[in-house]
Amino acid sequence: MQVREILVTSALPYANGDIHLGHMLEHIQTDIWVRAMKAQGHKVTYVCADDAHGTGIMLKAEDNGVTPEKQIANVQAAHEADFAKFMIDYDNYHTTHSAENKECSELIYRRLRDAGHISTRDVEQLFDPEKQLFLADRFVKGTCPECDAPDQYGDNCEVCGTTYDATDLKNPQSTLSNATPVLKTSKHYFFDLPEFEQFLKDWTRSDNRLQSSVANKLQEWFEAGLTSWDISRDAPYFGFQIPDTPSNEPDKYFYVWLDAPVGYMASFKNLCEKRKDTENALDFDRYWAQENEHKTEVYHFIGKDIVYFHALFWPAMLAGSEFRTPTGVFAHGFLMVNGEKMSKSRGTFINAGTYAKHLHPEYLRYYFASKLSDKVEDVNFDLEDFMQKVNSDLVGKVVNIASRSAGFLVKKYDGMLTDVCAEPNLLADITKTGDEIAAAYEDREFSRAMRLIMQCADKANEYIDEKKPWALAKVEGAEQEVQDVCSVAINIFRQLMVYLAPVLPELTENAREFLNIDSLSFASRNEWLLGHQINKFKPLMQRIDEKDIAAMVEDSKASLGVTATPTATQDTKSVAKNKQPAAKDVDANAEQTDYIGIDDFAKVEMKVAHVVSCSYVEGADKLLQFTLDVGEAQMRNVFSGIRKFYEPEQLQGKKVICVTNLAPRKMKFGISEGMILSAGDPKTTLVVITLPDAAVIGDTLA
Ligand code: 2FM
Ligand code: ZN
Repeated sequence: MQVREILVTSALPYANGDIHLGHMLEHIQTDIWVRAMKAQGHKVTYVCADDAHGTGIMLKAEDNGVTPEKQIANVQAAHEADFAKFMIDYDNYHTTHSAENKECSELIYRRLRDAGHISTRDVEQLFDPEKQLFLADRFVKGTCPECDAPDQYGDNCEVCGTTYDATDLKNPQSTLSNATPVLKTSKHYFFDLPEFEQFLKDWTRSDNRLQSSVANKLQEWFEAGLTSWDISRDAPYFGFQIPDTPSNEPDKYFYVWLDAPVGYMASFKNLCEKRKDTENALDFDRYWAQENEHKTEVYHFIGKDIVYFHALFWPAMLAGSEFRTPTGVFAHGFLMVNGEKMSKSRGTFINAGTYAKHLHPEYLRYYFASKLSDKVEDVNFDLEDFMQKVNSDLVGKVVNIASRSAGFLVKKYDGMLTDVCAEPNLLADITKTGDEIAAAYEDREFSRAMRLIMQCADKANEYIDEKKPWALAKVEGAEQEVQDVCSVAINIFRQLMVYLAPVLPELTENAREFLNIDSLSFASRNEWLLGHQINKFKPLMQRIDEKDIAAMVEDSKASLGVTATPTATQDTKSVAKNKQPAAKDVDANAEQTDYIGIDDFAKVEMKVAHVVSCSYVEGADKLLQFTLDVGEAQMRNVFSGIRKFYEPEQLQGKKVICVTNLAPRKMKFGISEGMILSAGDPKTTLVVITLPDAAVIGDTLA
């Protein structure tokens, strides 16, 4: 086998916020791929870092009353701790605020400049006279120049959808100081992206570097026309100073997105330094020098919102500075929770730390694996489906194989497996499926890999069900058959552990000890366990308890509060005009919560409803069941989680507000056809909003 040398990265999280499950989707996806490729014997290096520069981080540090250096150090420690809980096994986790990154960023910049790819021109921007800084679009609010809607950000109007320049806003105000911004001109540095158009067109379409939907998106951007990219920011800014600027001019800094991807290189460089003179030494040039482009491979896993930076700016910067370009850029979709964007108020904006307090990270690793493909599709974390899938697949199917066969072997045969396999065809079939599973991992078709693995588990369970070792154990003279059947089952279980190792590192490591084997590499499965002694079986995974999911949701609401930070929206300035994606230095997921436009709100239909009956629901300790008259002789069945706060008779006959156009929701106890509005804290007190008797049933609330 040809051992490939592969460098892999996940996008660098901003150092101003917590790691949430949106980040985790990507880092789990990358980690599974890295582990699978390592298990196939390749030399894989996985690096990441915190993305530590930018105005957002500078302001956050100011809010917290610490220096930016202290701020990013604290956040990096928290990020690394969260990723460790989810078993993300980086070879190196660094920061973009590092000596290596400064060196690499300056080198790339100087090479680009010397090759004539950098130019300067004056830019007029809004400036906060109190804070003494230039305002990115998300720090300006004002009245929409198009529809006069008040309180709109500096890039586009959420009411009428118009895209504009912050300088077009009427009555602009700085969100940082409330001061009225003034116009101020300063010199900016630009990277000449249009010069790379032909190179990028060829690069995009060659060597399967990009998923086809991403390549198509790029084609649209080419057609819209590439524009030069503003890579400088004025002081005060937390970042690297642009070198060699005229000494009689104010200092300029690299825009955070210039040095962020260079952070991949820099983290790798830092690792090369750490491993120098060891047996795992790595050669920086072997992975980054242009002439070695075909000896090694470099892959970036990213979210779909940052394709522009990774598939246009980054390869152009690398090519223009004579470094190699990535072998592939793999984009994934966003994480949805229960079919919607993560929401703080619904408790579905879930931080990694909050999740891990209540649920085992391997549940999530498996669930994400079962959902991920090589496509740029959003992944829905449906909490009900999550519980069912994990319980039925991992606990019910996989672990069950070992737990129902190990006991007999350990008790009656001192843990010895038979010398000869009683079902060589079955075992050969499952060993062979391993080739398909390995290919599915490599192609990032994890959901296909999980389906194949579960099919193998089904075959094992069918075999055990048919042979019934528990019944055979009671039959005199069937001792050999019991050992045969259980040995086959344990061998299949071992194959499954090899297949699941990239997804479930902890469970499979415990299983490896139980199986008393050295390795879970893909090749190891070709040698079956014959005449081999296993250890005593210990439970490998608990079922997910519904209560833990509910507690996680509650905790998410409590730990995040229900109000969003009003720094909202993204800085789309430099590219919005071309309808290209946002240039931004904020986490898209972290900022996408809670605000809805008036159009969204107008979609909600609320009616005065009469509580015809209200009762307890057998088997549900949180719910009350309502029959509501919502007018025009329409009755609705609604479940509401307010049993803790009300006896049914307290609400019987009352007039309440019902959201009547909520999609019907199938619950364990029936279908819920609406929602009753209440106010308060679902943990302590919740009060149903009731209306005076005079309210007319069926009236719409406006
Ligand atoms: O979008 C983000 O969260 C960025 N911090 C990702 C940077 S990836 C790389 F370019 F550094
Ligand atoms: Zn408008």
